[in-house]
Amino acid sequence: MKLAIRMVAGGLMATAFAFAAGTGHAEDKQITLGFAQVGAESAWRTANTVSVKQAAKDAGINLKFSDAQQKQENQIKAIRSYIAQKVDVIAFSPVVESGWEPVLQEAKRAKIPVILTDRNIDVKDTSLYVTMIGSDFLEEGRRGGKWLEERYKNDAGPINIVELQGTVGSAPANDRHAGLIEVIKNDPKFKIIASQSGDFTLAGGKQVMEAFAKTYGNKINVVYAHNDDMALGAIQAMEEAGMKPGKDIAVVSFDATKGGFEAMIAGKMNVDVECSPLLGPQLMSAVKDVVAGKELPKRIVTTETVFPMSVAAQVLPTRKY
Ligand code: AHR
Repeated sequence: MKLAIRMVAGGLMATAFAFAAGTGHAEDKQITLGFAQVGAESAWRTANTVSVKQAAKDAGINLKFSDAQQKQENQIKAIRSYIAQKVDVIAFSPVVESGWEPVLQEAKRAKIPVILTDRNIDVKDTSLYVTMIGSDFLEEGRRGGKWLEERYKNDAGPINIVELQGTVGSAPANDRHAGLIEVIKNDPKFKIIASQSGDFTLAGGKQVMEAFAKTYGNKINVVYAHNDDMALGAIQAMEEAGMKPGKDIAVVSFDATKGGFEAMIAGKMNVDVECSPLLGPQLMSAVKDVVAGKELPKRIVTTETVFPMSVAAQVLPTRKY
């Protein structure tokens, strides 16, 4: 009997001392995270989903996961449902940059902290989210542009670029385009002769490239694809049109997935600018910190590099996605 009383009292004490600073969340209570994913459009996205799910499991966080199928309205619905369920934290990778204020105001009113991951948003009031964890897409675009500058430094041009853009209005599509422009804008030999969205999918990249090949044929010197899936689709389209990707046409891509590396080893892609999807562990540690009432930096940037085709065979065995 005495032992039972002691155990109950001990339990109460533990609970009393285990409230995290600032949030009123008991440390021994499992954290619930609502995560609204973009979709399953690419190999990158699949790896990102695996990383988030695995990291939540490893961190002992109860994860509620939804897939928005690349539609903003689905993501907004998912966020609203997480608010209704009173989750502890909401995280999401925004399909597009604009249009988030109303739903984020709702989360703020419900006192649920929001963490952005992978893609950024365009809002005036940055207090609507705690932190943004992910790549610097603008810098990635610059890296792609700098590779082109170096590759064609002794070529008088013109260098005709066709651009396969990601999802219209998304941060990586906006910034990878802007980064390229920033680098090439002062060199008139570089010309973007066509630019169209392939929505970050292999099928989209293939379809757009088929049209580009028909319209521009051998005028094309460079394919600048905003991700590996679209680049791989474009490679298929070019080969079907009798073109030689990686040789007659330089292929610049983003993500650095295993598929991208295999294309580089096969000599069909020239450079892959890294964008890491392995954000799960950083996200879970941010979730725990937010719940514990700790201050977080407003921006946590992922460390990344550039892989030219010359290093692909050596690096591929170390790639995790
Ligand atoms: O937001 C990251 C981008 O989205 C990746 O480059 C792309 O593959 C994904 O679909």
